Amino acid sequence: MSNTVREEFSKLSEKAVLVAAETHNGQRFWSAEDSLDELAQLAGTAGIKVEGKVVQRLSRPNPVTYIGKGKLEELRQEFSLNPELNSVVFDDELSPGQQRTIERTFGDQIKVLDRTALILDIFAQHAYTREGQIQVELAQYEYLQPRLTGMWRHLVRQAGGRAGGAIGVGLRGPGETQLETDRRQIRTRIAALRRELEDVRAARHQHYRQRKRKELKTIALVGYTNVGKSSLLNALSYPRKFNGNGQSGSDPPKAYVADQLFATLDPTTRKVRLPAGTQVLFADTVGFIKKLPHNLIAAFRATLEGIEEADLILHVVDITHRKVDAQINAVQSILSELGVADKPTLQVWNKIDAVPKWMSSSPGSLRVSALKGTGIEDLLSAVEGVLQKNLIAVEVNIPYTEGALRSRIFSRGSVQWYQDGQGGTRMRAFVSPALAKTLKPYQDQTPDPGKA
Ligand code: GTP
Repeated sequence: MSNTVREEFSKLSEKAVLVAAETHNGQRFWSAEDSLDELAQLAGTAGIKVEGKVVQRLSRPNPVTYIGKGKLEELRQEFSLNPELNSVVFDDELSPGQQRTIERTFGDQIKVLDRTALILDIFAQHAYTREGQIQVELAQYEYLQPRLTGMWRHLVRQAGGRAGGAIGVGLRGPGETQLETDRRQIRTRIAALRRELEDVRAARHQHYRQRKRKELKTIALVGYTNVGKSSLLNALSYPRKFNGNGQSGSDPPKAYVADQLFATLDPTTRKVRLPAGTQVLFADTVGFIKKLPHNLIAAFRATLEGIEEADLILHVVDITHRKVDAQINAVQSILSELGVADKPTLQVWNKIDAVPKWMSSSPGSLRVSALKGTGIEDLLSAVEGVLQKNLIAVEVNIPYTEGALRSRIFSRGSVQWYQDGQGGTRMRAFVSPALAKTLKPYQDQTPDPGKA
């Protein structure tokens, strides 16, 4: 976020209470509290100060009031006793009907936002290519359209800005002139934006085709928001020397790194030379998040299309995150929705500098610190192995009695690391799918003592 925008935000001093309904509807991994922690992070990124959190356990959200009617009234009373509070943020996307009811309950002075509005707002601040900006504007219109009869219209009219302007959270929407006009005009604007988007996309596809002609393989970095994808992209593209032959990666401007959610919204690519000399492209993508509304997934196809076209996916994981398993799960389910779940994928455990060594171990995964540059060469070799031979990562413990198998891994696979121990050799390697199958019984489960 730029300083000017930040200053504007602090002037607005949005003070909010966050509200979640805990519904036990298959959200195995996230409690409402975890979800609210994430919402608080989103709010912080958008410049909102969180003053309180409310969770209500329900069998399902109330179709009219989201939380229970009584609870909503209780909350309204809280607000009337604390006049410095001016926003209430709901952890799910409110239906237009719920939005209107809640707005009526709280009155004109309280801004009613939901998770989608917050995500859109952050998207609006960070989209910097024309394609990203069009997509944000489209998503904003689509979100606002059914809500125009409610307070949104009133607020947006007051705000009268443009996408990305410093107007106040949830309001950095399309400007006054369009929104004061009728729905027909909004539909016309949406149609125009869609046409422009098609043109911009056609130009990008042309770009991809040229890239394909040059036969540059593409590797997409994906992962939950804030896991360190942009940092890793920077680490990967620092100049390096390989095998003493002086070949080095490119030295481009750095990708934007920030301890904020969704710092990256547009595809950023870097040309990088792999250890054996092949040049490839690494592409950063928008960070994933749970409850990313479907219309936003569609809206952000630009960054996600990079994944569809990629030859390999690097799934970056923040090993320090309390909910690392839930994050992995959320990313995997979005990858499935995108139809790319069976693309060759390497899981990369990032931020190993921030945890004790024993914690940074997990069979079959690569460990790096984008911050310190640890493990980058290993990662590049692994990428090379997979791209060249369609290899699969394995971590195994081969008993000394299976000498032939050990030799086979050395001769046919690409060994990243090995250690002779009691009774056998522990190895991390990339091998063919057939050999990986043979090695299944020898999969290693013990922690990695020394290798970072
Ligand atoms: P989005 O754009 O939100 O998807 O984020 P991202 O995944 O691109 O993450 P980014 O690279 O912006 O990093 C997020 C935060 O994690 C920043 O504060 C980084 O400094 C920090 N970070 C990234 N890599 C490492 C690492 O290896 N170790 C530690 N300790 N911190 C890291």
